[in-house]
Amino acid sequence: MLRALSERTARPSTAGLTAFVNAACLPIDPHCRFPDDFIWGVATSSFQIEGASRDADKGESIWDRFCRLPGAIADGSNGDVACDHVHRFREDLDLIVELGVDAYRFSVSWPRVQPEGRGTWSQPGLAFYERLVDGLLERGIRPYLTLNHWDLPAALQDGGGWASRDTVHRFVDYAAGVHARLGDRLTAITTHNEPWVIATLGHEVGNFAPGVKDRATATQVSHHLLLSHGLALQALRAEGCRAQLGIVLNLAPVHAATAGETDQAHARLEDGRLVRWYMDPLFRGRYPADVLAFLGADAPRVEPGDMAAIATPMDFLGINYYSRNVASADGSWRAEHSGLALTDMGWEVYPSGLTELLVRLHREWPVPPLYVKENGAAFRDMPADDRVHDPDRVAYLAAHIAAVGDALAQGVPMAGYMVWSLLDNFEWASGYAKRFGIVHVDYDTQRRTLKDSGRWYRDFLQRQKQWRSTAALAMEGGQE
Ligand code: FCB
Repeated sequence: MLRALSERTARPSTAGLTAFVNAACLPIDPHCRFPDDFIWGVATSSFQIEGASRDADKGESIWDRFCRLPGAIADGSNGDVACDHVHRFREDLDLIVELGVDAYRFSVSWPRVQPEGRGTWSQPGLAFYERLVDGLLERGIRPYLTLNHWDLPAALQDGGGWASRDTVHRFVDYAAGVHARLGDRLTAITTHNEPWVIATLGHEVGNFAPGVKDRATATQVSHHLLLSHGLALQALRAEGCRAQLGIVLNLAPVHAATAGETDQAHARLEDGRLVRWYMDPLFRGRYPADVLAFLGADAPRVEPGDMAAIATPMDFLGINYYSRNVASADGSWRAEHSGLALTDMGWEVYPSGLTELLVRLHREWPVPPLYVKENGAAFRDMPADDRVHDPDRVAYLAAHIAAVGDALAQGVPMAGYMVWSLLDNFEWASGYAKRFGIVHVDYDTQRRTLKDSGRWYRDFLQRQKQWRSTAALAMEGGQE
């Protein structure tokens, strides 16, 4: 069993991070200087922050629907209001500026811009994202847009959703429509966020929307996601798209719980299902043979030309990293017993796993520039007197940024790093109880408060910028 990945729900957290903070990695070495063109950012996604989910011009998404299933969401909540970002995006843009980041990663809600997932476009929906993108550009922030961060139009689910090959073509049309309206102003377009989560949690484990529990369906979904990614890239390039194009995968090192042969073999298979199942088709045009053999009759139906389309070259690869995975053949391994600090999700704090992963990706596959597109942690924050002291999150971020620095030092082509998340938000099946933000959100008043981790990130970036400008001045001096 893969720890946490199949469970992603609330687990008791253990204390102990403070010891980690003191012993291991705080503060990040102030002399740790990143390349001048390295992109620093913060990330969010549409369903988790936008709210306004029942606006007349917006279609229903599979997450709107999933939230209504009894017991699906830990606190019984939904995305109807969330962070009310649709009405407060200007305030949120100002927060982004205050942090001093270069880039903002956000996603478009497909049913907000194309309510049925086909045909008619919603002009108010498109206009919202146009205001958001223009607002970013006016403030000097680069827009990194994700097309699919899980909120598929429910109308498409009624026709089979990602299990249906027709959805592949609907996605390519949607990508082209968004590009036609916004493409000239975007720095980057990501096709899908974490196809593993959509396929496996959404269609095999069933604890995420749309809540299907069938392995053959899940593998077909993963194939359709990859295929739609490749075909969308081809369509956007044919339209002269100038934004960087890529995909974002949730990857992690998979360690065996013991040195025993069965655990080792299990770890190899889980690595195949989580990492190689996505990396091999994207960069080698084939699915891994050992996983295909394991799946047997549950392997996806692949049509001629599909694999070549999936392997369409990308401009970047995005990685989301939160923790390592540990595989034990009998499922007995528990993070609680590992002795490591855990976050409020019950996930081990394991920064060296990020370096290990990035170095491996660089060595084993012909990867384009890599971004960490999400990294962050949920902790139980205690707001007090207009401040939120979150030393555990500061330590987590510092250690993981240092881990990216280690990967750079080993020659990995790292292009950027983005914190998950700008705001506390709707954490899927965990509802609002799990807070990942570097900005605290009071859900009763919608008041935003920069946490200490946000202040730390701002100060860290300030130092990076000072170095940049000193270097620029030195260059000018040298040219005279
Ligand atoms: C990632 C998701 C993101 C958020 C973080 C905690 O898997 O992409 O939306 O939920 O986990």
